[in-house]
Amino acid sequence: MINKFLNKLFVDDALKFLKKLPSNSVDLVITSPPYNKKNNKGWLVDEVRYDKYIDNINEEEYQNWQIQILNELFRVVKEGGHLFYNHKIRWENGIMIHPIYWLSKSKWLIRQEIIWNRKIAGNIRGWRFWQIEERIYWLYKPKDNNFIGEELKSRHAKLSSIWEIRPESGFKEHPAPFPLELPTRIIYSIFDEEKNRVVLDPFCGIGTTLVASKLLGHNYIGVDISSEYIKIAENRLNNANDELPRVLEELRLHKVEKTFKERKEEKNKKQKQISFL
Ligand SMILES: C[S@@+](CC[C@H](N)C(=O)[O-])C[C@H]1O[C@@H](n2cnc3c(N)ncnc32)[C@H](O)[C@@H]1O
Repeated sequence: MINKFLNKLFVDDALKFLKKLPSNSVDLVITSPPYNKKNNKGWLVDEVRYDKYIDNINEEEYQNWQIQILNELFRVVKEGGHLFYNHKIRWENGIMIHPIYWLSKSKWLIRQEIIWNRKIAGNIRGWRFWQIEERIYWLYKPKDNNFIGEELKSRHAKLSSIWEIRPESGFKEHPAPFPLELPTRIIYSIFDEEKNRVVLDPFCGIGTTLVASKLLGHNYIGVDISSEYIKIAENRLNNANDELPRVLEELRLHKVEKTFKERKEEKNKKQKQISFL
């Protein structure tokens, strides 16, 4: 049933689209929804204005919408599957709004909170220390009462819970695309050398998650409300090989000279040699 959706892009509302997908059919979701930023303007970055969506709704309505999306994603993801959900801390009338508020009301297990150090702030007023970070929530759908899941290989896990990746600056047609390194890091860490898994992005914008999936040998499904962004995503996918150097550059970071176990064994061996002398 999922086959008819594979390697295709759809212009649609995310929630409406997700309801059409079969349950337990997707291995991994990577997504960044609109943040309900209410067109807050910093000094460095212009207003975030999307082609077909005004990022300014009542906060309670917004969080309820996000919970519905999260729960629908929980349904379509396979047991043992994952969702990487990018968001950030915001403030409204001086009150901090943390994504954990609505994430903890969803069905997902929160496996980790990753800090995305973007190294650059959108707003450089001094009301707070410059916010240069966003968050990526690694959410997990348990399998057979296993609430921990598979271990990552050391070469991926050593990349740590703080990711230093600069925001994308190469596409002016979209206000907030992922840098290609970000979905590449997630897909390669989760699947390692396995191929042909199913990756979904229900707010795919200009298709960065999908380009990374294609270049790493996986199937993709992309959805966005804007036909303009989907057109750009299609064009990127047709010319995906042009973006391969950036994917390869990210993959080069996923290596370990020696594992922790090997280093420990080496240390033990040295200690034995010293005590022998
Ligand atoms: C933060 S951007 C995602 C950018 C994407 N990660 C990329 O690399 O291009 C959020 C996207 O959500 C889309 N969007 C807003 N409301 C939507 C809805 N109801 N259904 C589907 N997409 C929507 C916007 O058009 C925008 O492209």
